[in-house]
Amino acid sequence: MEAGQQNIVVDLVLNVFNEFVAPQYSTEGVEEFNKFVTVEAVESRFKAGNIFILAKDEEKVVGIIEMRGNSHIALLFVEKAYQFQGIARELVHRAIIICLERNPQLIKITVNSSPNAYDAYYSIGFRGEKIIKTVNGIQFIPMEWKLKNIIIAQATDKDAHNILDLQKLAYQSEAKRYNDYSIPPLMQTLDEILDDFKNQIVLKAIIDGDIAGSVRAYSLNETCFIGRLIVHPDHQNKGIGTELINHIEKDLNSLQVTKVLKPYIFITNWAIKDLSPKN
Ligand SMILES: CC(C)(COP(=O)(O)OP(=O)(O)OC[C@H]1O[C@@H](n2cnc3c(N)ncnc32)[C@H](O)[C@@H]1OP(=O)(O)O)[C@@H](O)C(=O)NCCC(=O)NCCS
Repeated sequence: MEAGQQNIVVDLVLNVFNEFVAPQYSTEGVEEFNKFVTVEAVESRFKAGNIFILAKDEEKVVGIIEMRGNSHIALLFVEKAYQFQGIARELVHRAIIICLERNPQLIKITVNSSPNAYDAYYSIGFRGEKIIKTVNGIQFIPMEWKLKNIIIAQATDKDAHNILDLQKLAYQSEAKRYNDYSIPPLMQTLDEILDDFKNQIVLKAIIDGDIAGSVRAYSLNETCFIGRLIVHPDHQNKGIGTELINHIEKDLNSLQVTKVLKPYIFITNWAIKDLSPKN
């Protein structure tokens, strides 16, 4: 989020809130929420270091997540016309990655889910008994996601450098087996891998904040091609490759959705400064 975008965030959140959440709240609850989502309040939490990630379709902001204390979801809202397209899941994944970068020891992410969002959070990976609590008129269900230590998320151009390094490391055993160190995965350049990022779905597996695995896929004439499955030698035989394949197969099944999702840009106040490629 950039300075001046607080208005857009507030408008989006309040619009979605009024339609989906407010009907279940008392007047007191609605007032309490309105106090939490003013331009001034958002600006002050932004300055205090809360993570804000916006999902944009071209220039239009269509989704937003705010993380407090690098571990708690304070806001997660997706505009009606853009719901059920995986935007909330992607926002949560991106937020977790930043939280893990800030705190590699992080073991869980928490949220006080509004009752209407329980099933969505459950599908994303959060758990919690479906018992509704009420504080100051705000109804919520406490939920948490115990981090399995591994997060699978869509890779971005910023990851290209690290994934290329990992690829060259992971394919050493293949090269040794065939006594051929000129196999394509070892010869690929940064520009070439960036082309793959443009034309393919690229996933990454994160362990303790570092990229430990990746896989790529594309479809041509209704055939899907999965390739470049790589796992860091220190993390092989832990099921990471299987997780990556399971995830990419799911993405390929919903390729219609993935195609729509591609143009969305996810921006974070923090990532711009700190998620630049290492080295
Ligand atoms: C909750 C919310 C953020 C989900 O956003 P979204 O972008 O539609 O969610 P996604 O598309 O990433 O969906 C993630 C998963 O949740 C499921 N899901 C999403 N909304 C759901 C709903 N209303 N009921 C049941 N499941 C739902 C999706 O099917 C998907 O599961 P799958 O991968 O197994 O198919 C959005 O509905 C919203 O803004 N709601 C109103 C505001 C709100 O209540 N926010 C939470 C405040 S704590």
